[in-house]
Amino acid sequence: MSTALDLALLRVSEPEVRQLLQACQEVKKRAYSVYSNFRVGAALITERDRHIITGCNVENASYGLTVCAERAAICQAVSRGYREFSCIAVTSDVQGVYCTPCGACRQFIAEFSPEGYVLLVQPGLSEDEYLKGKGAQIVAVSSLLPSGFTPADLHLPKHKEQDVTETIQL
Ligand code: THU
Repeated sequence: MSTALDLALLRVSEPEVRQLLQACQEVKKRAYSVYSNFRVGAALITERDRHIITGCNVENASYGLTVCAERAAICQAVSRGYREFSCIAVTSDVQGVYCTPCGACRQFIAEFSPEGYVLLVQPGLSEDEYLKGKGAQIVAVSSLLPSGFTPADLHLPKHKEQDVTETIQL
């Protein structure tokens, strides 16, 4: 049993969620996934101006340099001057299963949207089905990354005896 998508939770209107559903699937077609053959598409909507900004995964012959779709979209948003977004939609080609953001992407999403939500989207269903909650699911960023490291952690008081010779051992 699926329940209808809670658009208020995502802080998007119905036309906006339709755009997000389309955009994440459309950008997935541009994935550069020549090594894994695993395409991922992500689309976010900016809090201000309501722009849809997308990203796909971009792999590299030096595998570890691969950039995931979510991080590609977020870097694009930040580069365009947007640091706040209402929700990010993520999709892959895997049928019947949600592609959840990897650990690095969870950390990246939480940097900008710790209170936000991710919209997970399976491929191949109709927009109306997604809106009814079939093949689409909302997950809280806080549940994807519980007890995550946050920008605030950088400013916590430090142990006084910390000194350079303790941390650098030649
Ligand atoms: N990938 C993403 O783009 N997002 C994720 O959250 C999971 C993994 C990509 C990275 C790589 O190009 C491919 O999927 C297989 O790991």
